[in-house]
Amino acid sequence: MDAIVDQGEESARELRDWKDWFAAYDDPESPLVKRLAAVQQGIRRALDEAPSGVINVLSLCAGEGRDLIPVLADHPRRADVRARLIEFDPVIAQKARDAVAAAGLDGVDGTDGIGGVGGLDGAGGGTGAIVDVMTGDAADPALFGDYAPAHLLLLCGIFGNITEADIQNTVTRAAHLTALGGTAIWTRHRHDPAVIPRIHGWFGDAGFSGLWESDTDLPTVIYVAANRQEREPTPLPDDRKLFTFVR
Ligand SMILES: C[S@@+](CC[C@H](N)C(=O)[O-])C[C@H]1O[C@@H](n2cnc3c(N)ncnc32)[C@H](O)[C@@H]1O
Repeated sequence: MDAIVDQGEESARELRDWKDWFAAYDDPESPLVKRLAAVQQGIRRALDEAPSGVINVLSLCAGEGRDLIPVLADHPRRADVRARLIEFDPVIAQKARDAVAAAGLDGVDGTDGIGGVGGLDGAGGGTGAIVDVMTGDAADPALFGDYAPAHLLLLCGIFGNITEADIQNTVTRAAHLTALGGTAIWTRHRHDPAVIPRIHGWFGDAGFSGLWESDTDLPTVIYVAANRQEREPTPLPDDRKLFTFVR
């Protein structure tokens, strides 16, 4: 596999190439398909229950956008949505942009880090939704812009690939990124089931309540949960990164 090197880091570090990982979504036998269904159901519920007006959505480490884009494509609130998807790998990010176009959503090219401005009235045709796929480091708060605090924060496929200290840091900082009443949806495998309650505890400490969780009879590799922000968020206190992938 090709290695991706983040030239922006002081000491360039080799990162895993995730391009092949998404093939599992096309295998009906894969547990990832069940995980996707749970995440999509949660996204639909968050959009259904969102207050009237603009719905900000932030998807960190968005991959090909397989969770959010198909739900937005036919959701009645899609014209209210402003979504930023941040994905590090430019090839994977381009797949997400292609999916946005194929779904008939109004994609804004955020490659330069400036995308996603304007068009909330649906100008430009399509469904009216603004879906901005940005290529970059999703751990860097500089890329969140005015998409935070978000009514829906997607943290899928992250917590199994970072240290527990970084999970805790990300959850703590998610409190600043999620609007009052907003939903954070996250995933984590259950190979070490003790981690799940700890993550819920960190969400609780950060002001979230538990909203729902996936069936525990799903394969061990799957766990999806949603937590609801119960406090008025304050801006992020600093520009420190949220996490670093270690796998
Ligand atoms: C396990 S996949 C999950 C993708 C997607 N969220 C999903 O659930 O289908 C992890 C993704 O995170 C991306 N990634 C890894 N580190 C990243 C970073 N620092 N910023 C943005 N994306 C990153 C990888 O390229 C990969 O596409």
